[in-house]
Amino acid sequence: MADCMHILKPAPTVIAAGLAKGFTTGAVQTRVLTHLDLNLHPGEMTLISGPSGCGKSTLLSLLSGLQKPDGGSVTALDERLDRLGRSRLEAFRLQHTGFVFQGFNLFPALTAVEQVQLPLGYLGMDRRQSEALALGALKEVGLGHRLHMRPAQLSGGEKQRVAIARAIAKSPALLFADEPTSALDAENGQRVSEMLRQIARRRGATVVCVSHDPRLIRFADRLLTMEDGVIHSDVRPAPSSTPHPYSEAR
Ligand SMILES: Nc1ncnc2c1ncn2[C@@H]1O[C@H](COP(=O)(O)OP(=O)(O)OP(=O)(O)O)[C@@H](O)[C@H]1O
Ligand SMILES: [Mg+2]
Repeated sequence: MADCMHILKPAPTVIAAGLAKGFTTGAVQTRVLTHLDLNLHPGEMTLISGPSGCGKSTLLSLLSGLQKPDGGSVTALDERLDRLGRSRLEAFRLQHTGFVFQGFNLFPALTAVEQVQLPLGYLGMDRRQSEALALGALKEVGLGHRLHMRPAQLSGGEKQRVAIARAIAKSPALLFADEPTSALDAENGQRVSEMLRQIARRRGATVVCVSHDPRLIRFADRLLTMEDGVIHSDVRPAPSSTPHPYSEAR
């Protein structure tokens, strides 16, 4: 029984069933996903890789509620995202999801603390609350010494860590990252990858990362490969012991 308990996974936080999605541009129709099933679990970092154009970013946008599927369902934290109206979907995304992108998406005029505080204001927090959370998140990603710097004064790796702090400051249950390391050099790419895995482990978040960067593979708890809009393989690599990312982050 104890062994049985040990291998039981926590209930999935995201359940996609029979997902279909296509796009029409002029007379050209592209079917990206035809019938995709996928469950994602809390506390682990799932890496989705696959060739360019196979539908990875499209899948991420459906799982996070950014776009709606043409068919099938997405249930996230017990909510049917494909059935939610626009404003409830926006509220869901604001409250429960964090996003990290390849290009950082930072505001040039804002300092690191202000970047992280901004979305917390949309959640109705006052300045003091949002500042405390922003400071905590920036320290967590090893940027306690860069709080008042603007993007132009930060390295690529530091910018991406500000973007991660911004995504995790509100403690979202679901964290999505689309090619978060592709603009980074080897060392920073590795650091960001480790950080994403630690966010899953320490915070119990469901972390989904889309990338064709092979450097990310050793940090993934679960590795999915996509081809032509379907999941081609689904494996859990053996756990590796890597140094704690934050112990060397200052
Ligand atoms: N808004 C859109 N309108 C029309 N076609 C789209 C749209 N978004 C994606 N597509 C098409 O859907 C297919 C899958 O795109 P997607 O961005 O999901 O691929 P990807 O696997 O993320 O690729 P990459 O690794 O290059 O980022 C592509 O053929 C793309 O041209
Ligand atoms: Mg993509």
